[in-house]
Amino acid sequence: MAINRPKGTEDHLPALSPKLTLDVSAQAHGWLVEKARRVLERAGAQRIDTPLFEEADLVKRGVGGSTDIVRKEMFTVYYFGDHGGYILRPEGTAAIVRAYLQNGLKQLPAPLKLWTHGPMFRAERQQRGRLRQFHQVDYEVLGSTDALVDAEAIALMVGVVRELGLTGVRVKLGSIGDPEDRERYNTYLRELFTPQLERLSDDSKDRLTRNPMRILDSKSASDQELLAELGVKPMLDFLGEEAGAHFRAVQAYLTEWGVDYDIDPSIVRGLDYYRRTAWELHHEGVGAKSALGGGGRYDGLAQELGSKEPIPGIGWAFGVERLLLALEAEGMALPEIAGPLLYVAALDEVNVPHAARTAMRARAHARAEFAYRAMKPAAAFRDAERRGAHWVALLGTDEVAQGTLSLKNIRTGEQRSLAAADLATFLQEHA
Ligand code: HAM
Repeated sequence: MAINRPKGTEDHLPALSPKLTLDVSAQAHGWLVEKARRVLERAGAQRIDTPLFEEADLVKRGVGGSTDIVRKEMFTVYYFGDHGGYILRPEGTAAIVRAYLQNGLKQLPAPLKLWTHGPMFRAERQQRGRLRQFHQVDYEVLGSTDALVDAEAIALMVGVVRELGLTGVRVKLGSIGDPEDRERYNTYLRELFTPQLERLSDDSKDRLTRNPMRILDSKSASDQELLAELGVKPMLDFLGEEAGAHFRAVQAYLTEWGVDYDIDPSIVRGLDYYRRTAWELHHEGVGAKSALGGGGRYDGLAQELGSKEPIPGIGWAFGVERLLLALEAEGMALPEIAGPLLYVAALDEVNVPHAARTAMRARAHARAEFAYRAMKPAAAFRDAERRGAHWVALLGTDEVAQGTLSLKNIRTGEQRSLAAADLATFLQEHA
């Protein structure tokens, strides 16, 4: 029996694959990450990469024991003789903070802006835009509590969306306050929900003891009904003075810069490390429940991971597949096939090595391919066209004897003869 890829994973396919869509196009993934890289590096972010697997404790302590990620979705990694305590990373933030602490990055000028891209793993139930291996572009800033850093992070996220050409995106902005504000809010929620215990889903009963705020994020329809019926007050009503002032400062910067946002008074993020500013980006083409990306401030995370001193931080991550689905919903076509500039074909078997050598030399200047067997001109043109080539060079006995190439532009039909010695200049001019 044939072996298929695991559930919830995708192959990223080459251009010209049958039934190719944007979200599984390897070229589209590369294009998107390159666009994001340009926006982030122009703002001073530097690339960082951390391992795909980490100590389980990093995720348990970082992401938090009350989250779905830790309770239900961790991929544990075992190998012979090990303690079984590794997991495939479900997100990038905890690992980046670990790397910052472990590698003494505190010595670099603060705030330090970092970015990364790569696969993340969560054992979720597969749906459209919800995968077990998905990809994030992630941006983190360490070493500042300034609201200006929050606003810049949000503006950069919007900047990436704009660079991609997406239009139907909304920023939902909220604040989940300081830990003491959250404690007051959780006390309020406990008092509200405890008399309703029997009506809560099993998951939410559990949330009521661990982290009541998480009930607001419940996927259960009956929980959502109960929430509507009770008219639960939002977290924003519980912000303390400092968190409230910080939140207003973030909004003032965004307004000044013309970055649109909607206040979402009850934003709950799916990770425990957040405090103060928290936000998500949504797009109608991907579905109301599925954010394109989200982020927030996490000033307590470094200490949770063992740092003696507090290292404030803030960041966000996009889901690359979701961005591609949103682009598809907005009608974006697959990226144009980037074919070779030159395709060299020999007309006779004896000249095949010469064609190969010509193409290999041409690679110093441009993308060049060659035919592995002799071809008639019509077959060579057809083959070159299927590969998306621009120019075909035919090499027959005459051309080899005279040191020339017969060139044809596949797209315009233009034909010309070129001295082989002039090929480098020709390629440079047409690259
Ligand atoms: P998150 O909200 O868990 O945040 O994930 C960010 C984005 O990753 C989501 O908005 C979504 O687009 C994408 N994503 C998450 N799970 C899946 C999935 N199963 N399938 C497809 N896409 C998915 C974080 O991960 C935080 N680390 C963001 C952050 C950085 N906060 C501060 N710094």
